[in-house]
Amino acid sequence: MIVVLVVASGAAWESAALGLLTEHRDIVVLKRCVDVDDLVASASAGQADVAVLGLDTPGLDVAVVEHLRRYAVRPVAVVPAQALEPGRLRAARIGIAALVADDDLDALPDAVLSSEPPPGVEPSEPLLVGEPSSPAVGGRVLAVWGPAGAPGRTTVAAGLAAELARRRLRTVLVDADPYGGCVAQQLGILDEVSGLLSAARLATAGLLEERFPSVQRAVGPHLSVVTGLPRADRWVEVRPGALEHLLDVAREQAEVVVDTGFSLEEDPGQDFGSRPARNQLTLAALDAADEVLVVGSADPVGLSRLARALVDVREQTAGAPVRVVVNRMRPSLGWSEKDIAGMVGGFTRLAGLHFLPDDRPAVDRALVAGRTLVESGDSPLLRALGALADAVTAPAPG
Ligand SMILES: Nc1ncnc2c1ncn2[C@@H]1O[C@H](COP(=O)(O)OP(=O)(O)OP(=O)(O)O)[C@@H](O)[C@H]1O
Ligand SMILES: [Mg+2]
Repeated sequence: MIVVLVVASGAAWESAALGLLTEHRDIVVLKRCVDVDDLVASASAGQADVAVLGLDTPGLDVAVVEHLRRYAVRPVAVVPAQALEPGRLRAARIGIAALVADDDLDALPDAVLSSEPPPGVEPSEPLLVGEPSSPAVGGRVLAVWGPAGAPGRTTVAAGLAAELARRRLRTVLVDADPYGGCVAQQLGILDEVSGLLSAARLATAGLLEERFPSVQRAVGPHLSVVTGLPRADRWVEVRPGALEHLLDVAREQAEVVVDTGFSLEEDPGQDFGSRPARNQLTLAALDAADEVLVVGSADPVGLSRLARALVDVREQTAGAPVRVVVNRMRPSLGWSEKDIAGMVGGFTRLAGLHFLPDDRPAVDRALVAGRTLVESGDSPLLRALGALADAVTAPAPG
């Protein structure tokens, strides 16, 4: 007997699916869950074998699918027939192998009963069955910061996170830019809900730890994103302490890469603790970081801002190692890596100095497709980000 949970969140296929499932003599429908949180809680009870879920159920992502697998609950997704191809891609990204189109529900009982994925569904990565992607002891918080002038913080943060995930490290990319997040847009996440604002609300309600999966969106089997502020003026909704709490919860389960804002200025009118200050998101990320990556642009203005930034950042970190990433290197600037090492090396002791090439074709390919640099194929920039990820994951000396 196969025990099934169903979460359809009001989709039109629900009653037909329930009819077909309950009629089958080898299937028992244990529960209709109201939402993903309900599904996660019901799966944890350990009685179900299969979850039938709408692929567009709000909150369904890789973390939820991993949770299901941990409790040996196999996901079977129902996809709108007119969106079968994008549905396949999304299902593969979050680790679901079994798909049924909503105009072919007669196939649902078989999909529920068979333990093999149906033919024609090729997950892009091996599935995670029995193979946890996360380090059991959690990861580190890597804050990606950089001075004004758009030196490439978001590009580096997203690229590094994707490279870590490619190494099968469970990775969460957090968009904490108080001037408005653009990670979601860069990675083609169309969700209207801001992960950061949901996390802030859950933190206030004391529910963040329990509902952490619901604030992430999957971008791959090992990578998820906590999307940022949908509009720059909504930073006021993130109370002091919320980001710190989010990073602590995330660090328990994954490598955490944080995209931050540029300004380190403290709000002069801030009264202690009660009112949020705009740059507190950036300051909190630097304070919580286990390692800080300072991104600077390789042109003359960028380098002088970088030099000053290296002095400023020291005051904001709690002694975390600082790594410098000089971005958009190009021959037309007329200086070598050695020249730049001489320029930035004197300002502070660095954990590492890295160079990324100016690579418009690779960046544009990824941006236009709304995908990570890793998904967009080989490029000089991706190789340099790979070397950065190697350095970041190398065991500390001694
Ligand atoms: N190595 C690179 N090669 C070519 N273009 C790049 C590179 N890095 C970043 N860019 C481009 O530079 C622009 C700014 O990059 P990005 O958005 O990552 O910067 P940022 O520091 O996060 O800026 P913001 O202040 O807007 O948050 C983008 O158009 C991005 O595509
Ligand atoms: Mg940015």
